[in-house]
Amino acid sequence: LQLVRRGVKTFIHLSNNFSLLEVLHTSQLVYPFIYKTATFLLPRRIVFGVNTIERIGEEMKTLTSKKIIIVTGPVVSKTGVVEKVMASLEKAGLEASVFDKVGPEPRIEMAEEAVEVARSGGFDGVIGVGGGSVMDIAKVASISLTNPGAVKNYLGLNQVAKKGVPLICAPTTAGTGSEVTRFSLLVVGNVKRSINSPNIVPDIALVDPMLTVSSPTNVTAGSGLDALSHAIESMMSTEITPLADALALEAVNFISRYLRVAYHHGGNIEARTYLSLAATMAGLAFNQGLLVLGHSVAMTFGPLYNVPHGTSCGMSLPYIMEYYLTVAADKLTLIARAMGENVGDLTPREAALKAIHAVRRLVEDVEIPLSLKEIGVPKEQLPTFAEACVRDWPRPNSPRKLTKESVLKVFERLWSGEGPE
Ligand SMILES: [Fe+2]
Repeated sequence: LQLVRRGVKTFIHLSNNFSLLEVLHTSQLVYPFIYKTATFLLPRRIVFGVNTIERIGEEMKTLTSKKIIIVTGPVVSKTGVVEKVMASLEKAGLEASVFDKVGPEPRIEMAEEAVEVARSGGFDGVIGVGGGSVMDIAKVASISLTNPGAVKNYLGLNQVAKKGVPLICAPTTAGTGSEVTRFSLLVVGNVKRSINSPNIVPDIALVDPMLTVSSPTNVTAGSGLDALSHAIESMMSTEITPLADALALEAVNFISRYLRVAYHHGGNIEARTYLSLAATMAGLAFNQGLLVLGHSVAMTFGPLYNVPHGTSCGMSLPYIMEYYLTVAADKLTLIARAMGENVGDLTPREAALKAIHAVRRLVEDVEIPLSLKEIGVPKEQLPTFAEACVRDWPRPNSPRKLTKESVLKVFERLWSGEGPE
């Protein structure tokens, strides 16, 4: 055990990162990855910065594609960003067409429609410019151009045989992190399913914070809390490594410092920049660490009550942090510190509680409800939710086993809105 601890310290000692130094000072952390192989998947390039959208043509040209399909949605296509992408592609001498039909929570049928357009047009490159849904469909379009067959064949873990055609994803919200992940989520029947494959990680994540400046306040709040959930949940996961932990912890720091600012002052470029960076960092973290109970809870009640994904994740987050308090107080202490809480000489439990209260305050400050009661969910429905949660999203990487009984208790607290003592 001592050797393991020393190993972690050595790793940390090599870094100048502030958050990693924080880890050093509290480093009784033992990472399960030391005993097994860990894989960290990345895009080939992350191009980050204000107005980087203007160089998307040049970036696409480096990937050797000539005829590009731009996947986007009806809302984004009215903001002028698609025109900027087209102009940049034209300047780089590339041909492009637009598919702008992708709405929120896309169904598999939407993916099939995009695939038909992509296959019939002879395209050899894909750009996804939009929120998580758009990027998810762009990923499917890219793999469909190198892998035969129907979209349903790609669902599940590692079902995509070949890498897709070159793909650039440019997010217009600071939330999902889909621009760097190995996941594409599609609604099939009444259930959200995922394509989970290293072959759909975009070649380039082009992250321009200016694309998020026009987001309405509720989108800013929900997206920011989605990213915060990615960061915190991946830190709880048994699959996490120090590499991903460092990214997640710094994402927590940025979101806690800047989400309120962006919520109240949407035009604040500094806040938008740090939130975009945080969303990408949290995406990298959960791409490796995977998510735990928070997203399971959110996916259960969110779609049924028309609560947007990020909002439902933000509502669930403080309650699942309570759930993991007994097994992850060390991580919750780091989260408290990253959120600016003074944990001084507190016990691990007291420090962990500070993290939970800090997240509750942040959720309240961006005007997202903290109870299911408030959004009209009847208490009688909770056992059904708990059962569906454990059945559909079992999370083998959860550090505390998910049982119907224990998850029901989480739902009961979320229903009432009651915080920890
Ligand atoms: Fe999410």
